[in-house]
Amino acid sequence: METSRRQFLKQTGQFALGVAAGAGVTGLIGCAPAAPAAAQAPKFPWTYAKLDSVTVAEKGYAGYYKGACMYGTFSAIVGALADKVGAPFSTFPIDMMKYGKGGVYDLGTLCGALNGASAAISLVADTTIAEKLIDELFAWYSSEALPDYKPQTPKYDIVASVSNSPLCHVSVTTWCNKSGFKAFSAQRAERCAWLAASVAKYTVDLLNNQADNTFKRVHTTPADVTTCLSCHGQKGSVENVHVVDATSCTLCHVDLSKHPVPIK
Ligand code: HEC
Ligand code: HEC
Repeated sequence: METSRRQFLKQTGQFALGVAAGAGVTGLIGCAPAAPAAAQAPKFPWTYAKLDSVTVAEKGYAGYYKGACMYGTFSAIVGALADKVGAPFSTFPIDMMKYGKGGVYDLGTLCGALNGASAAISLVADTTIAEKLIDELFAWYSSEALPDYKPQTPKYDIVASVSNSPLCHVSVTTWCNKSGFKAFSAQRAERCAWLAASVAKYTVDLLNNQADNTFKRVHTTPADVTTCLSCHGQKGSVENVHVVDATSCTLCHVDLSKHPVPIK
């Protein structure tokens, strides 16, 4: 106690001396944590630099086994940006993204791979651009057979499935039914690792296209969604569904035989 207190006083003294001398470099050594005055958050959004999507996919696969799905995609993209440009990306506390695993701490809600990718997009794009890219990402995720990226050193071979939904539970269970593997199996984990790789790769393609001004939405809103929202969405006759874009309505609303009005 006494020693550390004396050491502290000594260091503080050195700090004061260094500042007083106007040449604080040597005096400041050992006092580094006491200098936050100049610290300023970098301007938002942080500047994206084009990445190699296959490198990022491999990082996504490895990242999954370190911190699960959300960490997988986010650490792949932001880690690759840190490797390429350094700060501010190298300063991001990437570990916070572990919360997204299994649809937020295994609650089965939003797919963590999508959540991590959306966070990464939102770090490097203003909200208008981010929304545009994320809409395409979700539409792609829900309509394509995934995973569509096979890592260089996989543990198992993995079949692909179409989720029709951005939800962890729906995506995983659809895959389990198709593959025959259980939801807590090593094969299911491997599938989600491939999925983190696939989502990270597609996200980088989107960000690269945006950087080149060649982004075009290719996966569109399904017709059922557009129809439902014409009445239930914004400015519709009912307007009780707070959704502007979605991947499906009829995935859950399977029986519309008692729907009060005819649906064209
Ligand atoms: C032409 C307008 C219109 C369209 C299109 C439409 N709805 Fe409806 N929907 C209504 C109205 C009106 C009600 C009754 C609202 C009320 O009672 O408050 C309703 C009620 C519902 C209900 C609650 C009653 C029930 O049947 O369980 C659900 C669920 C629903 N709609 C889902 C859908 C879905 C899914 C679609 C797209 C496939 C859709 N609706 C398309 C007008 C529409
Ligand atoms: C992930 C599953 C899921 C999806 C996808 C989904 N819903 Fe629902 N929806 C529900 C659940 C659960 C409820 C609440 C229980 C109920 O009323 O069925 C609900 C309620 C509703 C209701 C009110 C029903 C009532 O009883 O009044 C409407 C209208 C509705 N949804 C429309 C839509 C539309 C339009 C879409 C597409 C944009 C959509 N839903 C997509 C699960 C879903």
